[in-house]
Amino acid sequence: FNKELFESNLIDWFQDQKRDLPWRMDQDPYKIWVSEIMLQQTQVETVIPYFERFINKFPTPQDLANADEQEVLKAWEGLGYYSRARNLQSAVKEVSEKYEGKVPKTPELLSELKGVGPYTLGAILSIAYDMPEPAVDGNVMRVMSRVLSIEDDIAKQKTRKIFEAVLREIISSKDPSSFNQGLMELGALICKPKNPNCSICPVQKHCRAYHAGKQTQLPIKSKA
Ligand code: ADE
Repeated sequence: FNKELFESNLIDWFQDQKRDLPWRMDQDPYKIWVSEIMLQQTQVETVIPYFERFINKFPTPQDLANADEQEVLKAWEGLGYYSRARNLQSAVKEVSEKYEGKVPKTPELLSELKGVGPYTLGAILSIAYDMPEPAVDGNVMRVMSRVLSIEDDIAKQKTRKIFEAVLREIISSKDPSSFNQGLMELGALICKPKNPNCSICPVQKHCRAYHAGKQTQLPIKSKA
């Protein structure tokens, strides 16, 4: 497995094929944060109009911090999992008060914020701040379990840490934003759960599952 070639094949493909999504227009850490929270339990297509309305209503952390909770929940209506909206506003208030509205740049400070777990902090640090931090969600575990033929059970809590360690070895400072978003995009467009389209995959030559013909048997996921 040639990690440098894997990384550059993935980055090149992402830069060429990425969808124009509203949170990809700039690197504003606040917008990246809002988008990643919305995307955690909700599909991209559903999130797009909510994200646009939300950012129009609350363009900066200060706007969200000063808004009425009811107004924030109204903007979230239809997305579900309303604790995401409450935690986001509470965390943004803390950023507004403690850090003058600047989203922190370290894993330690970010992880103190309500609703910001390992995935969200990795996404913010890599996409907004170009730092080589992994951002591991279910899609990323599916892609990497296939590429490296990793048979750990992705339903187990501790398995995410295994993938983080693996990705820490691969991700470089070249373009961590495109690398992480490339893994997400690959999972969404090509390395899909049921019908992975290996024939057009930009990292086919690096993929152990493809070479063994077992791409549909991975990842391993216990319980329903
Ligand atoms: N899913 C989670 N984060 C995403 C992102 N930044 N782009 C597309 N899909 C995503």
